[in-house]
Amino acid sequence: MRNNITVEKILLEFDPVAQNLLLALKKISKNFGYICEKDSQKIAEYFEFPITKIYETASFYDLVETKKPANLEIKVCSGGDCNLGQSTNVIREIENHFRIRVGDKFNPKVRLKKISCLGRCGDGPIVIVNRKVYERVTASSIYKIFAEWI
Ligand code: FES
Repeated sequence: MRNNITVEKILLEFDPVAQNLLLALKKISKNFGYICEKDSQKIAEYFEFPITKIYETASFYDLVETKKPANLEIKVCSGGDCNLGQSTNVIREIENHFRIRVGDKFNPKVRLKKISCLGRCGDGPIVIVNRKVYERVTASSIYKIFAEWI
């Protein structure tokens, strides 16, 4: 049990039908930060889906986390407008600074992920650090953001 909210209680908010699976996954991920293997099993049993369906659905969407968060979870929008705004330079700067690559899961302290458009294109490039959203981020302004977290 975490904060008196349990996966079971959240699941009961949704009828166990296919169209509710993503809604339930998002809510569980939002509440607990990610969906662990044990919780994936509970979700699979509730919806009567094979566990592979839970993993497939969860890993397809950027807003559902399936790994325990690192100390610093950095997500950079790689949608068209953010790319035009040089989000690739931001990604390269982060990779070089932390000596990581997008998608690496080896560093328990820092993870970098590309995400798809968040619908805030006019404010891009968009970077999310530990769920806090930053707008108009550049390869040089990223260090001000790091200073808040490190
Ligand atoms: S392209 Fe980045 S928010 Fe739309």
